[in-house]
Amino acid sequence: MPKLPIYLDYQATTPVDSEVFARMAPYFTEHFGNASSKVHEFGWKAEAAVELAREQVARLIGGTPRELVFTSGATESNMLAIFGVAESWLQGARVPHLITTAVEHRAVLEPMRELERRGCALTVLPVDRYGRVDPGDVRRAIRPDTALVSVIFANNEVGTIQPVAEIGALCKAAGVLFHTDAAQAGSCLEVDVQALGVDLLTLSAHKMYGPKSVGVLYVRRHGPRVTLVPRSFGGGQERGLRPGTLNVPGIVGMGAASELALRRRAEDRARISGLRDRLWSALSSGLEGVTLNGHATERLPGNLNVCFEGVPSEAFLMDLRDLAAGSGSACASGSGLPSHVLQALGVPETLSRTSIRYGIGRGTTEQEIDYAAARSIEAARNLRLAVAAGGSEEASLRTDGVRR
Ligand SMILES: Cc1ncc(COP(=O)(O)O)c(C=O)c1O
Repeated sequence: MPKLPIYLDYQATTPVDSEVFARMAPYFTEHFGNASSKVHEFGWKAEAAVELAREQVARLIGGTPRELVFTSGATESNMLAIFGVAESWLQGARVPHLITTAVEHRAVLEPMRELERRGCALTVLPVDRYGRVDPGDVRRAIRPDTALVSVIFANNEVGTIQPVAEIGALCKAAGVLFHTDAAQAGSCLEVDVQALGVDLLTLSAHKMYGPKSVGVLYVRRHGPRVTLVPRSFGGGQERGLRPGTLNVPGIVGMGAASELALRRRAEDRARISGLRDRLWSALSSGLEGVTLNGHATERLPGNLNVCFEGVPSEAFLMDLRDLAAGSGSACASGSGLPSHVLQALGVPETLSRTSIRYGIGRGTTEQEIDYAAARSIEAARNLRLAVAAGGSEEASLRTDGVRR
């Protein structure tokens, strides 16, 4: 019997790896200096640690250390990329046109919509039923006034991986800047800014076994040199793009997590995708009316998003207290709103309200997967019976008797 509850929400966040934590710890207590204190040992130690982390992240993504800006996470990195490019156009008295997709995280969609409210032009591209954007649609949407294309690397809800390299190549050919939110990809996919033709790239430490509230924005310096207008002003840290005292322990954690990802990602990818396939095979062979959301093969190794026809996901998750899985995205769950991602894939609203996201990661075992499959099948069957017997979601929970 595995230890309960079983964590199956690795797209929401990951635990800090013990190796990462061990490297961070001294920077809270012993080496607590301010990386901007240039005149003593404490400051030099902190600065050296930040610069080492910059090199570690740069190695992971194929950039150079000077092209990285440390932020408070993917939300801030996305905001800096999108507003930073748009503002640089607006300051040159040009109104930018922006392109994105219907399956972005809200951390991209919301800044895009805010810029539209402020007078910028916005195109939101549709995706196919697997959640992939057609690079041809991107090419056709580019206009002479297009400033930026932003396409999520791998979707946080359904796991679909976009044809990023193809989009990067066509943006380069058109002379348009290209940003990708790679928050979900950092821990296990190859993310090379050169091979992908990316000008701006977002990462988040807590999605890759690092600490929360630390992220990175990669900003290309050559071919082309990207100019961003900062979002905040102050002490001039991070070349003025992200002023404020640096979160040294967090940045050390981001660097260590990047080093670990580079070392482990091939092995993790193979093992974790094997567990995902095992879960899907158990669910789909053990139960009628289950459908996979997202792309069958072009998907995050650790993501399995499934609709259980006739089983409302809120009731399902209440019943499955021994599994910590997600319904919709971490940010949207609890909002009561249907997932904009499933909507974009054309999943009917009633069906989309039965979706469960199983997020599998480094700590997941086969035993946990087998338990999760058996419990999900049992709970889905019980809830279907209760619904068929005319009970409400509440009644269906009562028939089971226990809230685990
Ligand atoms: C694709 C994507 N982008 C952005 C974010 C926001 O990340 P952060 O929590 O680092 O701000 C998330 C987190 O769910 C995400 O999955």
